[in-house]
Amino acid sequence: MDLGENSYNINVGCGILKEFGDALKKANSIEKIVVITDPLVNELWGGTLRASLKNEGLSCETIEIPRGERYKNLDVAFKLYDKLLQLDVHRDCCIVAFGGGVIGDLAGFVAATYMRGTYLVHVPTTLLAQVDSSIGGKTSVNHPKGKNLIGVFYQPMFVLSDVETLTTLPQKEITTGLAEVIKYGVIEDEDFFKFLEANSRHLNTKAFEDNDTLKAALKVWQTIVSESCKIKAKIVEQDEKEKGVRMVLNFGHTIGHAIETLTKYDQYNHGEAVAIGMAGASMIAREMDMIDDDVLKRIKDLLEKLKLPISVDGLNADRIINILRVDKKIREGKIKFVLPKKIGKVEVRDDVPIPVVRKILKNLGCR
Ligand SMILES: NC(=O)c1ccc[n+]([C@@H]2O[C@H](COP(=O)([O-])OP(=O)(O)OC[C@H]3O[C@@H](n4cnc5c(N)ncnc54)[C@H](O)[C@@H]3O)[C@@H](O)[C@H]2O)c1
Repeated sequence: MDLGENSYNINVGCGILKEFGDALKKANSIEKIVVITDPLVNELWGGTLRASLKNEGLSCETIEIPRGERYKNLDVAFKLYDKLLQLDVHRDCCIVAFGGGVIGDLAGFVAATYMRGTYLVHVPTTLLAQVDSSIGGKTSVNHPKGKNLIGVFYQPMFVLSDVETLTTLPQKEITTGLAEVIKYGVIEDEDFFKFLEANSRHLNTKAFEDNDTLKAALKVWQTIVSESCKIKAKIVEQDEKEKGVRMVLNFGHTIGHAIETLTKYDQYNHGEAVAIGMAGASMIAREMDMIDDDVLKRIKDLLEKLKLPISVDGLNADRIINILRVDKKIREGKIKFVLPKKIGKVEVRDDVPIPVVRKILKNLGCR
């Protein structure tokens, strides 16, 4: 990630968690290491991480946060500050965010704000965290009024993504991350999209069940995670603080967020909502003659092949439109949509007529 003085390496590999201690030692001389994680990640992969530190003569403190989005809040951040003070952590220490996107956002936020910033390293262990949340420096906690409302941009010292950690994920977490992966293909890279079309059989947890398919799948995952990181990095490099270009990363998120808000984050997980949003945005693009039937079909087919939904069940179209009107992605009263022009290229448009939005929402299954 080339961001001038905030530049950093994103290391992607298979089995590289064992090299974490070495990578950390090479990156900087750190006084104290504090790993923030959750109990499951700690149980599954914490031993490997700590052994890699031990190999380099390093030790760490480990702090566990209960699992779940509801712990990504200021109360938990405050408890973490208390704990860091107790441990006598100061600015020359390093916080390691070791887990999914919840841990990454929370630990990243604490690293950014505690004593005006400690060193931060992301060791993401979910697909979503490896391809999305650990890249780009957004850290945040939730507020009762909405998700991610309190936060700060803060870049890590480096990111280390071991695709082997993906092998313990349940299918639901793989599917969620795949929505963002497909998004990268549509917005930026047709070859990558083709790679996903050609390799869809590897992209499920069944592939982890026997040795031969596991080996093949890990190779594919390595390509997917590294290509996704390259695409996201390329976009973030042009627009670190999300003033313009970075907006293309919201492909599928306009309708997706509205669905999540309407269903109170309960009915669809984030990846599913984004998948429906991508199908919707592509249908809008078809309606506005920006793409032909073939492009629309390829996008919908890939979503379906990877077990993502492309329709909703009876949500109210007008309520979704009302939510879209107050969404933060609207400036000057116009709803902004990221729409495909072809596979590998999108355009931000604020001129989609409301009747077109309503028609597409109905085609998606809304009432
Ligand atoms: N900062 C950003 O740019 C950005 C971007 C996208 C999403 N996010 C945030 O990311 C969060 C969602 O992240 P997520 O989807 O990773 O969810 P998550 O962090 O809740 O992780 C999902 C579950 O997977 C478990 N888990 C983690 N690694 C595992 C492993 N290797 N094996 C088995 N289980 C494992 C965790 O214990 C957790 O229960 C949201 O809070 C969202 O706002 C941030």
